[in-house]
Amino acid sequence: MQMLLQILSIPTAAILLVILTFIIFLSPLLLNLAEKLQQNKWGSKKLPPGPKPLPIIGNLHMLFGKHPNRSLEALATKYGPIMSLKLGQVPAVVVSSSEVAQLFLKTHDIVFANRPKLQLAEIIPYARKGFIFTDYGDYWRHVRKLCAMQFLSASKIEMFGPLRNKELGVLVNTLKKASNSGDVVDLSELIDEVVANIADTMILGGSKDDKFDTTGIIFEAMHSAGAFNLGDYFPILGLFDLQGLQRTTKKAFQLADEVMEKIINDHQQPSSAKSPNHNKDLIDILLSHMNQSMEDSHDHHEQRLIGRTNIKAIAMDMTAAAYDTSKSTFEWGMSELLKNPTTMKKLQKEIEDLVGINRQVEEEDLDKLPYLDMVVKEILRLHPPVPFLLPHESSEDVTINGYFIEKNTRILVNVWQ
Ligand code: HEM
Repeated sequence: MQMLLQILSIPTAAILLVILTFIIFLSPLLLNLAEKLQQNKWGSKKLPPGPKPLPIIGNLHMLFGKHPNRSLEALATKYGPIMSLKLGQVPAVVVSSSEVAQLFLKTHDIVFANRPKLQLAEIIPYARKGFIFTDYGDYWRHVRKLCAMQFLSASKIEMFGPLRNKELGVLVNTLKKASNSGDVVDLSELIDEVVANIADTMILGGSKDDKFDTTGIIFEAMHSAGAFNLGDYFPILGLFDLQGLQRTTKKAFQLADEVMEKIINDHQQPSSAKSPNHNKDLIDILLSHMNQSMEDSHDHHEQRLIGRTNIKAIAMDMTAAAYDTSKSTFEWGMSELLKNPTTMKKLQKEIEDLVGINRQVEEEDLDKLPYLDMVVKEILRLHPPVPFLLPHESSEDVTINGYFIEKNTRILVNVWQ
């Protein structure tokens, strides 16, 4: 007992020292062993080259830091555009050129169509019933086809043009007023408002009310589910929820579920009947397909209908995908222009010359503004909102460019060039 008390009283620093010493002295041995085991497992198969993983954490430390996509790009110049990493217990491949990205996402698109099964997504009742985290199959195809044709088609996007124009007009007027009176504005807050209003109207039907910040609540829930979770890399740690993420995610989803229930109920009220010409939002579109069987279903074991739960999940996926990407690009764009006055002046000159200063830039003007186009592309290059795309995962063993990639390997496509 006394000994146990003594052990318990050893300060944490000393324990860490022992672990570190253990790792330092044993790492060459462990590395050798891991390499031998790997070679035995795959025999003569050629695995993608990559930096040696450390014991336990593998190459996970390489994803930390301010610009992980830049450090991985630097490593790719040494190991090539198909580079293997070990993220904790998870085998991963980093793809670092557009040619190779095409092989993964076009030539072998079906093999890499799945997303990893993240622990937090698994504890949420319907996270995998939406759009982004469902496995490839009939439902996957059906939902993408439905959204692409009825919600994200060019004509549909155009129909919402006046909404975007109106929201931008409000922003420009607020800025003008603040500028005239010399007031300070929080541009991030204003941008947030514009993006949230547009996403809310297009996806959820403009159901924002004083009680709920709908987009914010949904985004918080999705953000919480996508947080960096140690359990995804060391599955045993998932049992203990050391970061408290399971608790916060469940809570955030409960609130988001309440919001989604209210939005769907509102859409189903007879009083909400809209004129046949009204611009349908995503919930309207999905409700009009609820419980209809898919015309192209092959797999009879698979869930074949879009039910209420799917509608909630799809709308939440779409909100999360639309909101943060647009907001961050808008914010970085303004921030880069303010930091680069020469670029700002050139851009202002282009707009003055080609559109004039007496009216707002319309979406139809965009084709004749090449410098603006370049500025937007440069902003996306410098600050990609999804720097490794959303993670993909191989659903079977596959060989690409002579490299063997095992089933369940996580694929990170590094868009930084
Ligand atoms: C600046 C704006 C945006 C950027 C940079 C952006 C970028 C991306 C990227 C990199 C992915 C991951 C692709 C992959 O993993 O293969 C993605 C997925 C997705 N985005 Fe966007 N996005 C933007 C705006 C939007 C908007 C406005 C919407 C909806 C209205 C949207 C809906 C989606 C959806 C649904 C997915 C998942 C696709 C799938 O799993 O098949 N995005 N986006």
